[in-house]
Amino acid sequence: MLRSLLFWAILLLLVPQPPAPRSAGTITVDASRPGHEIPANLYGIFFEEISHAGDGGLYAELIQNRGFEDSRLPPMCKLENGFVVPPRTPHFDTGKPSEWRLRWNVTSETPAWTLDAGGGSAEMRLTDATPLTEATPHSLLVEVKAVPAGVAVAVRNEGYWGINVQQGSQYRLSLYARSDGSFKGPITARLESADGRVLASAPIASRLANGWTKFEATLTATDTDPKARFALHLGSTGTVGFDFVSLFPAKTWRDRPNGLRPDLAEIIAGLRPGFVRWPGGCFAEGINIESRPQWKRSIGRLEDRTGTYSPWGYWSTDGFGYHEFLQFSEDLGADALFVVNVGVSCSMRSGTFLEDDALPGLIHDALDAIEYAIGPVSSRWGALRARHGHPAPFPLKYIEIGNEQRGERYGERVAMFYKAIKAKYPRMQIALSSWIAGVDQRIIDAAGKIDIVDEHAYKPLHWAIENFDSFAAYKRQGWDLYIGEFATNAGVGRGNVLAMLNDAAYMMSMEKNSDLVKLGSYAPLLENVNDRDWPVNMIHFDSSRAYLRATYYANKLFAENLPTINLATVVDYTPATSKPITARVGLGTHNTAAEFKDVTIERNGQTLFRSNFSSADGWTPEGRRGRWSVVDGAYRQEEQAIAWSYIPETGGADYTVSLEARKLSGLEGFIIPVGVADGRRVQWNVGGWGNTRHAVQAADAVVGEQQRGSIETGRWYDIRIDVRDRTIRGYLDGQLVQERTLPRIDKVLAISGRDAKSGDIIIKVVNSAPEAAAMTVNISGATPASGTATVLRSDNPLEENSFDEPTKIVPQTSPLTVRGGAVSHTFEPYSLTILRLRTR
Ligand code: AHR
Repeated sequence: MLRSLLFWAILLLLVPQPPAPRSAGTITVDASRPGHEIPANLYGIFFEEISHAGDGGLYAELIQNRGFEDSRLPPMCKLENGFVVPPRTPHFDTGKPSEWRLRWNVTSETPAWTLDAGGGSAEMRLTDATPLTEATPHSLLVEVKAVPAGVAVAVRNEGYWGINVQQGSQYRLSLYARSDGSFKGPITARLESADGRVLASAPIASRLANGWTKFEATLTATDTDPKARFALHLGSTGTVGFDFVSLFPAKTWRDRPNGLRPDLAEIIAGLRPGFVRWPGGCFAEGINIESRPQWKRSIGRLEDRTGTYSPWGYWSTDGFGYHEFLQFSEDLGADALFVVNVGVSCSMRSGTFLEDDALPGLIHDALDAIEYAIGPVSSRWGALRARHGHPAPFPLKYIEIGNEQRGERYGERVAMFYKAIKAKYPRMQIALSSWIAGVDQRIIDAAGKIDIVDEHAYKPLHWAIENFDSFAAYKRQGWDLYIGEFATNAGVGRGNVLAMLNDAAYMMSMEKNSDLVKLGSYAPLLENVNDRDWPVNMIHFDSSRAYLRATYYANKLFAENLPTINLATVVDYTPATSKPITARVGLGTHNTAAEFKDVTIERNGQTLFRSNFSSADGWTPEGRRGRWSVVDGAYRQEEQAIAWSYIPETGGADYTVSLEARKLSGLEGFIIPVGVADGRRVQWNVGGWGNTRHAVQAADAVVGEQQRGSIETGRWYDIRIDVRDRTIRGYLDGQLVQERTLPRIDKVLAISGRDAKSGDIIIKVVNSAPEAAAMTVNISGATPASGTATVLRSDNPLEENSFDEPTKIVPQTSPLTVRGGAVSHTFEPYSLTILRLRTR
C-alpha cells in the first residue's frame, strides 16, 4: 500500500502538471425563466468620415483630391496664423462665441498632386477660371514650356498614402481635360511604382478641345506595388487643364460602380451589423453650421457633389454619399440610421447654429431624405432614387436628430422634427442624441416624446468591469436606449486585450438589459493608420492591408452568438488574487502652478525615499507641458498646466507618501500620483474640478465619490497619503479627508440567453482576472447534450494585433465536454469565452 502511494507520489512529481486554476466557482443559468427579448439588430456599426474611414478607406476611390478642391477653406472660415477660424458668432449652448480653431495643415494649393518637369520646364497652378461644375470650381492648369525629346512632363498623384496596385488587376480611370489649342499631345496615364517603374499605362488623348472633355481608360497592372502612384504624362509643350481625375479598382465590393474597397467592406460585413449609422458623429454637425453635411449635395453625379469639410480636418468628397450609405446598408442586410443636422454645429467646436426660423427648412430636408429612401417612385424624391438605379425602397428605419447636443433648447428642436416626421412617417423610429456619458434628462423632458435616446459612452480602462451592469440602474421611461458610440479608449494602447474585455463586459450589460438597450454601435469603426484622428479604433488599415483589433472579434462573436431571449444568470466566484497598489510616486498639477518639498516614502518605519531639492536630480517630468525647476529648496512647476514629474518607480505595496505642497496660481490644487494598480495610475486629486473637490482617481476615473474641498493659494499644506493594499487614505494637515478602496477588476462576469431557432443556450463569460477560473456551469430547465467554447484571449493583457502579427488575438473554438447534462469549464485568464450548448 505504502509502496503504491509512494509510486504515485513520485509519478506526480515527475509528470509536469498544468498549473492548477487557483479559484473555482459556479455559473448558474435558469433556462426555465426566459427574460427580455433581444433585438436581432442589437449590434450595428457607426460610420463617420474620421481618420480617413471613407475617403482613403472604405470608399474605393484611389485618387486623393480628385476635384482639386482640397485646399479650399471650409465655408465662411478664415485663415489666421495657420489656423482655420470659424465665424465668431455665439455658441448654441453658452451664448458666447467659442474660441475653438483648427490647425490648417494644407501646405500646397494642390494637395496630393506634384509636378515633375522631367528635365524640361513646366508649371502647374490651381485656377477657378473655367469651372467644370459649380461643385468643383477649381481645376489644375499645367503649362508645359519645354519637354526634352524622349521624356515627358508628369503630373503625379500620391493617392491616399500610396495606391494599391496589384498585378493583373484593372483600374478604371476617368478625367476631364481641356486646352486652349496650344497643347499638341499626347497625354498618357500611368500607374508607377514608388521607385518609378511603370506598372500600367494607357493613352488618354492627343488633341484637346477648348471646353472640358471627359476621357476614360482602363489600366491593367503588370506588376504589384501597394504604394504606387498615378501619373499623367504630357508629351509636348502647351497649356492643359485637368479636373475630376478619378481612378477606381475595377473590382469593388459587390461590383457596385462608385463602390467600396472589397476587403474592408467584407470585414465590416463580418460583423453582421444589424444597422448602419451614418454620417457621424461630429461629421453630422460640421465645424461651423455652414460646414454641416447636406445630403442633397451627396447624391447624383460625383462631379456635382461639393464635398463636406470633416471636423476631423480634411475634405470629404461625399463619394460615399447618402445613396451609397443606403445601398451599403441594404447590401449588409442592415437597417439604415440617418443622422440629420439639427441646425447646430459641433458643440465641442464652434457650436454655431441656424436661428429657429431656419428649422422648417431643415425639417423639410429631413422629410425629403426619408422620401428619397423609402418614398414611392411616384414621389419627387422616390423618383430620383429610381433614376439613380434603385426603384425599391431602401431599409431606412431610424432618423437621429443631431449629435451630442445639450440642454432644453436642443430638446425643443427635437420636438419639432419629431412631430413633423411622425406626422408623415409614423413608423419611422426617431432618436435624439444625448450628451456624452449618461442621459440628459433635460433634453428628454424638453423633447416631450421620443422613441430612442442615444447615449455615447467612451470609457477608461476597467470602467465597464468595475461598473458591470450599469444599465440595470437606468430608469425605464418608455423610450429605448441606443448606445450610439461606445468604446474603452483610454489607457488601453491602441486597443489591447484589456480594452476588448471591457468592451465585451459593456456589451454584456447592453444585452442583459435588452428591455432598455435596443441598439449599440462601437466607435470609431475604421482608421487609416496614416491619419489617426482618434486614439482607439476598431479596424486598422493602410492602402492594401487591414488588421482587426481584439475588440473587432469580440463584436463579431457577440453578433454571431446573439440569443433571442435572455436567461437569468448568476455567477458565484471569488478570485484568489487581487493586486495591491504598488508605489510609483510623482507630483502633478492641473492648470495650476505649484511647488512641493519634503517628499518621503516610508514603509514599516523605513524610509524608502527622501527628496533633496538642492537640485531636480532624480525627477523626470512627463508630458509635453509644465516648467519644473528647483527654487529655494522646493520643486516648482510654474506653468498653469497639466504637468507631471516622477521619481523612479519604487514598487512594493503598503507604504506612506508625505510631502508639503503650496499652490502658486491657477484653477486647481495638486495631483499626487502615488502608485499603480491594474495598469492604471492611482492618484489623489486635491482641489480638482475647478478647486471644488478632492478625489481618489484610477487613471482619470473617480473612485467612489468626490469630496467637497478646496486649496488656498500661497499656503503650505502638509499632505500624507497612506496606501494599504487597494485602499488610499488622504490626509491634509493631519486630518483624514478621504478614504477610498479601488474596486476589484478581477472578476468573472457572465450572461446567457437562448436562441429560439436552434434551441442553443449561449453563455458569454469575461474572466478579467490574471488567473484561470474553474467553473461548473449549472443549467436548470434544460439539458445540454454537447457544445463548443470559443475563446478570445492572450496571456498578456496588453497585447494587440498589428500588421505584422494580425492574428495574435483571434477566437479559437473547441468542443466542450458535457457529462450527464453538466458542464465544467476552466475560463482562461484575461479571456472572453462564448459557450454554445446544444440542448436535448
Ligand atoms: O467617434 C468619434 C467622435 O466621438 C464622434 O464624432 C463624436 O460623436 C464623439 O464625440
